[in-house]
Amino acid sequence: MQNKKLEHDIDWGTLGFQYIDTGKSYRAYYKDGEWGPGEITNANTVTISEASPALHLGQQCFEGLKAYRTKDGSVQLFRVDQNAARMARSAEKVMLPPYPEEDFVQAVHEVVRANQEWVPPYGYGATLYIRPFLIGVGDVVGVAPGPETIFGIYVTPVGPYFKGGLQPASFMVSRYDRAAPHGTGEAKVGGNYASSFSAGKEAQANNYADAIFLDPATHTKIEEVGSANFFGITHDNVFVTPKSPSILPSITKYSLLELAEKRLGLEVKEGDVYVDQLDQFKEAGAMGTAAVITPVGSITYEDKKHVFYSETETGPLTKALYDELTGIQFGEKEAPEGWIQTVNLNQ
Ligand code: PLP
Ligand code: COI
Repeated sequence: MQNKKLEHDIDWGTLGFQYIDTGKSYRAYYKDGEWGPGEITNANTVTISEASPALHLGQQCFEGLKAYRTKDGSVQLFRVDQNAARMARSAEKVMLPPYPEEDFVQAVHEVVRANQEWVPPYGYGATLYIRPFLIGVGDVVGVAPGPETIFGIYVTPVGPYFKGGLQPASFMVSRYDRAAPHGTGEAKVGGNYASSFSAGKEAQANNYADAIFLDPATHTKIEEVGSANFFGITHDNVFVTPKSPSILPSITKYSLLELAEKRLGLEVKEGDVYVDQLDQFKEAGAMGTAAVITPVGSITYEDKKHVFYSETETGPLTKALYDELTGIQFGEKEAPEGWIQTVNLNQ
């Protein structure tokens, strides 16, 4: 499909993970106990009361998913219903009225359709990143949820989140915690990310791609990366990924658990991943919408570096998982039922 906005001079092959104003966003407003109709807007700004609890108390949540251009020029979404459901769970955690799941899915279709010329062409690995958000607004001075809520979506074309895409990245175990076991770790709320900034900055200052967090209760088990879940593949071919109440239930993770078992014939397990038992893994990776699958080349913990498959090459099983996942997302491989929705570009 011809890309009308090529005059913007985007080099799709080198595009990073940054914000570009595409000119069309989505907004819906919740007032007096009900959601009003949502609509496409040209504004990439939001005007709210300075006393809004989203600003002071972190009463907000968000989602992240992508639209993919296929070889025949159509545009498809990957498991958008799962993002709708997770956002409803996150909203509940911080007492925001959930945006109805069916309306969420429709809104994503609408905003992608409105921005269709920004969906990168097939063949570069680039995608249109979709960022739905809910914010609690209104005049609140004490500790309480806002009387009103805004649901919004912005979209922006993106390339790889970690430099190099399917290039092994090195990570360091952080001394900081991200979220508490009975806190908001499993919700996609901003506070979990603000509290991961210093860990991420410290990792990057030491030339690591990002930080890895340990479980906050015992500091013995791997939790996740600041922006992705973790997996390891054992020498006897078990795909293992941490099970914890304080990590984000990654949609990519649940997809890979299924693909690893059904398409690669691996045994799969959600369980404990002790940071002093990394020798059991021949390969490891970080997985998420932004990270896709990023091979974990090494993890440094207390000045000891553990290398998995290689620091420069991607392991064969990690590569096979990447090919399955991205093959489905870009329409090259058959998707399990219900995983893909095609956006009608002509409405
Ligand atoms: N963990 C964290 C902290 C994340 O921000 C993300 C990204 O959304 C993930 C894991 C991966 O989740 P998903 O696969 O649903 O994108
Ligand atoms: C995602 O993968 O969608 C994320 O949210 C990670 C990060 C960019 C916040």
